[in-house]
Amino acid sequence: MGLELDIKFTPDDFLRIRGMVYQRVGIALNDSKTHMAYARLAKRVRSLGLKSFAEYLDRLERDEVADEWQNFVNALTTNLTFFFREPHHFGMLRAHAEAWARRGRSYRVWSAASSTGEEPYSIAMTLAELAERMRPFPFELLASDIDTHVLQQAMRGVYGSERTSKLPDAQLHRFFDKGVGANEGKVRVKKRLRDAVTFFQMNLVAPSWPELGEFDVIFCRNVLIYFDKPTQAAILNHMARHLAPDGLLLLGHSENILHLSDAFLPCGKTSYRLA
Ligand SMILES: C[S@@+](CC[C@H](N)C(=O)[O-])C[C@H]1O[C@@H](n2cnc3c(N)ncnc32)[C@H](O)[C@@H]1O
Repeated sequence: MGLELDIKFTPDDFLRIRGMVYQRVGIALNDSKTHMAYARLAKRVRSLGLKSFAEYLDRLERDEVADEWQNFVNALTTNLTFFFREPHHFGMLRAHAEAWARRGRSYRVWSAASSTGEEPYSIAMTLAELAERMRPFPFELLASDIDTHVLQQAMRGVYGSERTSKLPDAQLHRFFDKGVGANEGKVRVKKRLRDAVTFFQMNLVAPSWPELGEFDVIFCRNVLIYFDKPTQAAILNHMARHLAPDGLLLLGHSENILHLSDAFLPCGKTSYRLA
């Protein structure tokens, strides 16, 4: 298959990987992801001192290595994200939250595939700025992902300063500490903002979800694209049960759910309300 392979990797191994990752976390890998699967998992195979993917997958199936299923999943997720990605959603969030601000309970937002934290921290900055103007404005912000590695990074809240270079100075000063000494060139989300986000691991394709309650806004962006249509439909139907009656569901730019679920109606660019 045109790969420089130092570890034995056959088409059958790829099929096994595909089945295993689909079954565990719903990610549907097509044939074009063969190189990616090799590149991302070869490190795991090597680190266990094995010479072939078949041995690795056998061990995984026998559940012989502690935490290896999680390492396998972490290796196969794609975590690309950045601060204020798809900025129109943050304007919508602000307007929606402003309309809610006087209702006498916490405003609740969930970032359902939070990756390394840029999305929930962008939400937290938006709501913290609003809270300054509209006191009191209590809010609750939950952020989840399947990948434990990105969750740890998100909770630490440390980023290379190039990741925040497009943020306005006022936001940078207000919400980030600059690293010094060994941390020169990095920034860290201030504790106050980190404390405003509750991170937890959650598999969106799990048949039952934890008790999450109702949200005013759900950010479920750039994750449905990794799933097939039946999986997307099941997640959307689940999400509908966790959205407040006039809540907002925000999806990624390439995620069109119109023919997938009749629970939602579009209400703006990649934004939906309950039907
Ligand atoms: C491309 S990132 C999107 C990050 C952010 N929402 C954004 O739009 O910038 C996709 C995230 O979905 C997560 N993911 C993939 N499968 C998942 C599943 N079954 N349950 C929960 N999260 C999942 C990945 O770990 C990854 O961090």
